[in-house]
Amino acid sequence: MHPVDLHEDIEEVLISGDEIQAKIAGLAKQITDDYRGKDLLLIGVLKGAFVFMSDLARSIQLPVEFDFMAVSSYGSSTKSSGVVRILKDLDYEITGRHVLLVEDIIDSGLTINYLLRYLEARGPASLEICSLFWKKGEQAVPLDVRYPGFEIPPVFIVGYGLDFAEKYRNLPYIGVLKPAAYGADSP
Ligand code: IMP
Ligand code: MG
Repeated sequence: MHPVDLHEDIEEVLISGDEIQAKIAGLAKQITDDYRGKDLLLIGVLKGAFVFMSDLARSIQLPVEFDFMAVSSYGSSTKSSGVVRILKDLDYEITGRHVLLVEDIIDSGLTINYLLRYLEARGPASLEICSLFWKKGEQAVPLDVRYPGFEIPPVFIVGYGLDFAEKYRNLPYIGVLKPAAYGADSP
């Protein structure tokens, strides 16, 4: 990436836009192979997953349907508390459907664990997770992520859908913020 494109609050680019696209192509190929002949429903977790889901879905060479859930987790802006509040529920029933839950990032795993239990109770034919980023080793309980993207260290990242205080979601790369960008609300 040309330095002139770098946002002034970003200290370092951790993963470039090209690296992200290459990873997504690999995930989409796997998903295409695994779900051939099945009706696949992608459920995106808003807001963070919307950028990833858009690119992933367009790389999957199968007809797919979309639904979204919006959740917010109580706690500070950089750590989830595990208490998840559903802001937007599914539009349709998922009973008997092949569901792929699309997440931006798994940190403690509390958000995804809550969603898994919530969706499992609705009787899908299958339920798997695709998460673009994964802070492996940070999860309190073991988590079976069928389609993991990048394993990253336990640092706070922004860009490509991920925010800090609702900012930086539109950066086309994954970056680490300068300490000053956190202001008073430091992680
Ligand atoms: P968990 O419940 O601890 O796994 O956190 C998952 C949610 O916290 C994600 O869906 C994100 O919204 C947010 N999150 C966790 N780590 C990061 C990060 O490094 N940058 C931005 N958001 C994050
Ligand atoms: Mg967030």
